[in-house]
Amino acid sequence: MKRASLTLALALVAIGAGCSSLERSRSLANPSTPAKTLASQVCSNCHGLDGNSISPNFPKLAEQQQEYIVAQLNQFRNHRREDPPGFIYMWGISRSLTDDQIKGLAAYFAEQKSVSPGSGNPKLIEEGKQIFDSGLPAQNVPPCSTCHGDHGQGNGQFPRVANQHADYAVKQLTVFQQTEQRPDGVAMKVVTHSLSRQNMEAVAAYLQDIPPK
Ligand code: HEC
Ligand code: HEC
Repeated sequence: MKRASLTLALALVAIGAGCSSLERSRSLANPSTPAKTLASQVCSNCHGLDGNSISPNFPKLAEQQQEYIVAQLNQFRNHRREDPPGFIYMWGISRSLTDDQIKGLAAYFAEQKSVSPGSGNPKLIEEGKQIFDSGLPAQNVPPCSTCHGDHGQGNGQFPRVANQHADYAVKQLTVFQQTEQRPDGVAMKVVTHSLSRQNMEAVAAYLQDIPPK
């Protein structure tokens, strides 16, 4: 992701918040603010009210595994997940969340219905389906479905990847492959080791509009 578009998005959020930004930061720093209020007043600005974000800069949270959301919010709060958009956007927001608020936020987003952001290039999608279902044996890449489920629905600590924005998925695959910025993603470091950019774009295109269960 380009730094310029991130800065712009952040500026737009700040403008959008207007006079209620103080109110918002008060809700954020207040341990008694219910998770649902945080979701609609704070998280919705970037992730969408129902977790179906519009911009690929912001990952979709709708129908995401509750356990995975709890784990990621803890990682942002502890500064373990440190890819640049993660620390720019999520460190401050997660800083004063309590364990109960994290649990409630995860439950709220896990209950929302995920919708596809739309379909991409059919040829790329076909190539991606092959990688997702069967892996790339010649490159030692296991099938993604082994951990993420046949329909990309995820399971506990294994995130839902179905309907995720393709651009966000490619960005995270690159983070796992080339950096140590998500140390809890060791499983993915092995998986992404020999993926080419073309492989990543293909599998991400398939995931964005994967057929539902
Ligand atoms: C100003 C924009 C912004 C706001 C507000 C925001 N987020 Fe985020 N969030 C992001 C960005 C950007 C990322 C992707 C970070 C990265 O690429 O590592 C992210 C990532 C996440 C992730 C990890 C998703 C994944 O698939 O791994 C979770 C969970 C999350 N946010 C939850 C929340 C919750 C809960 C709130 C409200 C308390 C919130 N976010 C508010 C921008 C925001
Ligand atoms: C051995 C199990 C395993 C396999 C196989 C696997 N993954 Fe993962 N994947 C994980 C785990 C665990 C995470 C969460 C890592 C973390 O918590 O940081 C993850 C995270 C991801 C993420 C980031 C999700 C997000 O919201 O940030 C993407 C994208 C992803 N995997 C795609 C794939 C693709 C594509 C394949 C096949 C090429 C694949 N995975 C194969 C276990 C696996």
